[in-house]
Amino acid sequence: MASASNRGVIFQGAGKVTVETIDFPKLALGERRCDHGVILKILTTNICGSDQHMVRGRTTAPKGLVLGHEITGQVIECGRDVEFISVGDIVSVPFNIACGRCRNCKEGKTGICLNVNPSRPGAAYGYVDMGGWVGGQAEYVMVPYADFNLLKFPDREQAMEKITDLTLLSDIFPTGFHGCVTAGVGPGSIVYIAGAGPVGLAAAASARLLGAACVIVGDMIPERLRQAKSFGCEAIDLRQDATLGDMVAEITGTPEVDAFVDCVGFEAHGCGHDHSHEQPATVLNSAMDLTRAGGQIGIPGLYVTEDPGAADKAAQKGALSLRFGLGWAKSHSFHTGQCPVMRYNRALMQAILYGRVDIAKAVNVELITLDDAPRGYADFDGGAAKKFVIDPHGMVAA
Ligand SMILES: NC(=O)c1ccc[n+]([C@@H]2O[C@H](COP(=O)([O-])OP(=O)(O)OC[C@H]3O[C@@H](n4cnc5c(N)ncnc54)[C@H](O)[C@@H]3O)[C@@H](O)[C@H]2O)c1
Ligand SMILES: [Zn+2]
Ligand SMILES: [Zn+2]
Repeated sequence: MASASNRGVIFQGAGKVTVETIDFPKLALGERRCDHGVILKILTTNICGSDQHMVRGRTTAPKGLVLGHEITGQVIECGRDVEFISVGDIVSVPFNIACGRCRNCKEGKTGICLNVNPSRPGAAYGYVDMGGWVGGQAEYVMVPYADFNLLKFPDREQAMEKITDLTLLSDIFPTGFHGCVTAGVGPGSIVYIAGAGPVGLAAAASARLLGAACVIVGDMIPERLRQAKSFGCEAIDLRQDATLGDMVAEITGTPEVDAFVDCVGFEAHGCGHDHSHEQPATVLNSAMDLTRAGGQIGIPGLYVTEDPGAADKAAQKGALSLRFGLGWAKSHSFHTGQCPVMRYNRALMQAILYGRVDIAKAVNVELITLDDAPRGYADFDGGAAKKFVIDPHGMVAA
């Protein structure tokens, strides 16, 4: 094997990440053998808003955790039981880890695999409560159940040409797309997307790909709203003191939408004069206000069962103050949870390779080195309208 050294991004407690030497991956997780796994040399690995929840100290993530669940790489070693993936393949890794053998995997629900996390259904690389799999903001990583999990790109040269787009297949492009699909977005839909972070922007690009008539994105960060406008979305600055319905009506003439996608999650801020305070239920409540009767609400934004940093006691246990009766009265459908990346990544790869979507441009990818990861985390936390993509070996820059 080429190298036995490895470096990765480590969570060091609230507000701090560093780049350290870490173990070179093995085809095992502790005592559990992973002969079905591969070792990847990582080509790109992205920083995510989901990582920020941990880095802001809003989860029970332990110090020393190797971060990173958005991984694209080249296979350098295959376990004994890997049949259809080969050394040299360039692959996208869905952030969900799935066995391919359990009841949920068999139903395509790979975000809630039953065999990869002893403490609850569902697992991911480098994430609190997600099974202890080592993260991939690093030079090398191990991917279990490789035949099932990996999406192989058809051509190496073409993949390297489009790598800043393809790197988004590990999470945010499928996640934004899933948010729209579960919100019922189709040709002619009027869509509201809460949040103009990378997931919100990916959802906005997905809504356009799905044929939405009008895509409206709301946030309180002007730079992110400008980014949404740059590819044809309408933008609402939520620092204004007006109701969301009125602001939508100014654009469409009607204070309601067909489809609502929550790309914010539990660290949501209030709107208007309250925009500097957290209100964890505000997006879900505005979803029920704004969505027409019979409409659908997609909720890729993350909600937690433990939030030690929440302002009130109920929210510390993930209990939110919802006006659920309104959603009931309007027969809304709600869809939550991890995106089952595998359901979408192949089709979205083709959309990228055939030039149907410019997803890297929509989310404004910036390539950085591994050593620059702490700066990437800080700028992202500061609200930069960027998706930071780490190029740990300098292979993309070259
Ligand atoms: N379900 C999944 O599989 C999945 C996958 C990836 C990310 N996520 C989650 O999606 C969410 C978004 O991720 P991201 O990387 O874009 O994060 P981000 O933190 O960059 O973006 C969140 C955005 O929401 C804005 N915001 C805050 N309050 C708001 C409000 N009331 N209305 C509208 N906008 C508001 C913020 O200003 C910010 O721009 C996170 O919760 C993340 O954990 C879920
Ligand atoms: Zn992610
Ligand atoms: Zn499974």
